Amino acid sequence: MERTLSIVKPDGVARGIVGEVVKRLEADNLKIIAMKMIHMTKAQAEGFYAVHRERPFFGSLTDFMSSGPAVVMVLTGENAIHRYRELMGATNFKEAAEGTIRRDFATDIEKNVVHGSDAPETAAFEIGYFFNAFEVNAR
Ligand code: CMP
Repeated sequence: MERTLSIVKPDGVARGIVGEVVKRLEADNLKIIAMKMIHMTKAQAEGFYAVHRERPFFGSLTDFMSSGPAVVMVLTGENAIHRYRELMGATNFKEAAEGTIRRDFATDIEKNVVHGSDAPETAAFEIGYFFNAFEVNAR
């Protein structure tokens, strides 16, 4: 069993797509073991995306991610990281496969509705960034 962090980003929350994302991941048999709505400060968004610090889009990305509420979830399942990334589709919605969340709902390479961890080490960091051990229902 693997864990991954999912975020419905501020654009997804503003457009009322939280339920659609939850429906798709549950239909794929990914299980939600923690979930909450947050509104990140700019500094919190910068900490979350620290690996992208040097990228030209870092300022804009962290402005966007702190622009409104987002829903963060911990998902579990066999091969959960890869499976959730398959559901999301490519970062650039124009390259995302048919039927993926980003292909269906994203409007921009940055405002791409959802985030998912890309590896076990990043999942561990990202889950710990938003949830403490008591908030993750592992039993
Ligand atoms: P995410 O999967 O959350 O990981 C990093 C985020 O940076 C990505 O989704 C996009 O929201 C954003 N991003 C990635 N590449 C670009 C880009 N070329 N221009 C703007 N934003 C980007």
